[in-house]
Amino acid sequence: MLFEQVCIIGLGLIGASLAQAIKDRQLATRIVAVDRQPASVQAALDAQVIIAGSAKLADVVVDSDCIIVAVPVKAVTGVFTEIQQAITQGLVAEDCIISDVCSTKQNVVTAAKQVFGHLPSGLVPAHPIAGAEQSGFHSRRADLFVNHSLIICPLKTTRPQAVLQISDLWQAVGATIMKMDVAHHDAVLAYTSHLPHLLAFNLVEQLASHDDNMDIFRYAAGGFRDFTRIAASDPVMWHDIFIANKPALLNALDEYSEYLAKLRYLIKQEDSTQLLGLLGRAQSARKHFGHMLTSTPYTKQLTETSHTENSMAHSTHVSSTYIITPSRTINGTIEVPGDKSISHRSIMFGSLAEGITKVSGFLEGEDALATLQAFRDMGVTIEGPENGEVVIHGVGINGLKPSRTPLYMGNSGTTMRLLSGILAAQKFDSVLTGDASLSKRPMERVAKPLREMGATLQTTGERGTAPISITGSDKRGSQLHGITYEMPVASAQVKSCLLLAGLWATGKTTVIQPEVSRDHTERMLSAFGYEVQIEGNRISVEGGGKLTACDIAVPADISSAAFFMVAASIAQNSEITITKVGMNPTRTGIIDILQLMNADISLSNETFVGGEPVADITIRSAPLTGIHIPEHLVPLAIDEFPVLFVAASCAIGQTVLSGAKELRVKESDRIAVMADGLTQLGVNCTVTEDGIIIEGKGLAEQDDNATSALPAVFGGGEIYSHHDHRIAMSFAVASLRASDTITINGVETVNTSFPGFSELANKIGMTIATRTV
Ligand code: S3P
Repeated sequence: MLFEQVCIIGLGLIGASLAQAIKDRQLATRIVAVDRQPASVQAALDAQVIIAGSAKLADVVVDSDCIIVAVPVKAVTGVFTEIQQAITQGLVAEDCIISDVCSTKQNVVTAAKQVFGHLPSGLVPAHPIAGAEQSGFHSRRADLFVNHSLIICPLKTTRPQAVLQISDLWQAVGATIMKMDVAHHDAVLAYTSHLPHLLAFNLVEQLASHDDNMDIFRYAAGGFRDFTRIAASDPVMWHDIFIANKPALLNALDEYSEYLAKLRYLIKQEDSTQLLGLLGRAQSARKHFGHMLTSTPYTKQLTETSHTENSMAHSTHVSSTYIITPSRTINGTIEVPGDKSISHRSIMFGSLAEGITKVSGFLEGEDALATLQAFRDMGVTIEGPENGEVVIHGVGINGLKPSRTPLYMGNSGTTMRLLSGILAAQKFDSVLTGDASLSKRPMERVAKPLREMGATLQTTGERGTAPISITGSDKRGSQLHGITYEMPVASAQVKSCLLLAGLWATGKTTVIQPEVSRDHTERMLSAFGYEVQIEGNRISVEGGGKLTACDIAVPADISSAAFFMVAASIAQNSEITITKVGMNPTRTGIIDILQLMNADISLSNETFVGGEPVADITIRSAPLTGIHIPEHLVPLAIDEFPVLFVAASCAIGQTVLSGAKELRVKESDRIAVMADGLTQLGVNCTVTEDGIIIEGKGLAEQDDNATSALPAVFGGGEIYSHHDHRIAMSFAVASLRASDTITINGVETVNTSFPGFSELANKIGMTIATRTV
């Protein structure tokens, strides 16, 4: 029990739902209520929600230790006056908790000051962001507040204990507590609730006053209906709210008028670029605002609960699981999605170029979409993506605008690191944030050399991690300057970050890499007409140039193809052809390593697409053998190790990987997480500081084309992806040599790089069922 006796004043939808929820969850010994309507009081008594009720507070309030005011905003003063009288008469204690549910908060505080002469220590202004279309006692729902927000506005005068008790009460009925001050609450609600209602009422008024209004209403399509649904709400309630929140609402309305005038101007001028930019930004913001708020993936639909007079959209996290029944053989010709690294860069370079860049084969996965969204947030007009086609209206090297909100990079390390380089050189300030997994990854590896170039940026997370806060050159007063930087690790992300920053730096920026790493940045800079000097492992750019738009055809991602290359190798009697896969020599380490392991791989239709080599890859079952993986191949197959560990488990003999410490700072610690999963499925492996040793379970005498089944290598079991897409897909591949069902939890991140993975896998003979909760 949280309270002895709760007194609810007002048995409308919110008051009655709260009373019911308190009763069902046994949060108070007694509940009493006050309502002007005798019928509501009687109904509450009949339903045994309350033990006493009346139209007058003094009749029931005695001994209440919590009073909840659930009346319309305008009635609050009258209710406070009754409470004051009850205190004077000694019916309730002076420090009794008094809370409310009103949509505006300043008026509640003003009324309290006026009535009590001071702000009582028990006064806790609160506002549940929940409701329903219907009103009244009979519409009550005990679960009305579940998964909804409850805003508490503690006052300087409020007892901390009172805030705690009200928080506990709302949490116990399922709400999530948010705290903000009174002025902020009223400003936020003016934008998110009061302004939309005002506009809905106004549009109906506008259309209804046309002479031909019957025709307009008769033929009104979904747009009118959807936009004005909320204008069917109670006019008295909204009248009261608009007046109660007058200053904040007028501010919001003035700003709205400015936006409307701008939109009018763009239409009048037929300024298609700006108009498309505005509509595109709005569309993607509408689609993604819930994702940004809740850090959920971009490609997942949100579950929106009911909208109400005063509700904000509410969303829940999505979590998916693969349940994979073992299958033996796979066959077919497939196409995998576009290259992730090239997709990211196409948006970045296209945005900074002069002219229009058309991209085809763009990867519509979470990570690349995060990059696309970030550039939209910085004012770039981007059409699409639609069937892999994107059209970018470049703004030129100095045309980016500051984002109004922190830039959200989702799970994408590439976006965060490359954008850090671009943004460190801009005139304006920026903040970069990411999801839980990205927020654990090291960002000082880019921040440190950027500081050497004169940038001002902070990794504000706990250990050199995101959020990254960047101060623009306007405030700093100086441009970046070129440096020569010797990278401690062969990282394409660090290299690209510095080369990108170098575009705005004075003089020459040179990056020296210890080993070859992927060179898409260098290639794409050249394709956009920017000179890059490459001398062995030294790569340099001179600042001050410009980029000129060009079309980009993104090849299929060899990192995605890798899953099916290993799948076909370890499965029995299998043959898979993967078409038009990118064959950039800085990415083909997977082919070299698999060939060293005796895989049967052949290439055909070798050609060039948009400056990158591509080919069809055919791969057949083969008895793989364990090897010591040459260290120079590590950066060239850096993303493919999780699935290579699956290949190694099926090989004859031991496979040793060393010099691969970088794997520990990918989307997860890929050495530790893979070792856990492999052990779980019955494979022996030993983790080393910078690699792993895997005892392959392949048998020397096995013949992959034999009719008798190949022996299972993995048992069944339950695996956790640790928020890492490649871990999830690698263990899915393991099912081709598993004796039992493999369940993989947390596979929603597969969408970051490979939307449609399970569907494609099922098409060629695997059996992956996806369960989403
Ligand atoms: C990438 C570089 C690699 C890779 C990542 C994409 C890129 O990271 O793992 O998936 O697009 O530049 P590092 O450069 O940190 O090794």
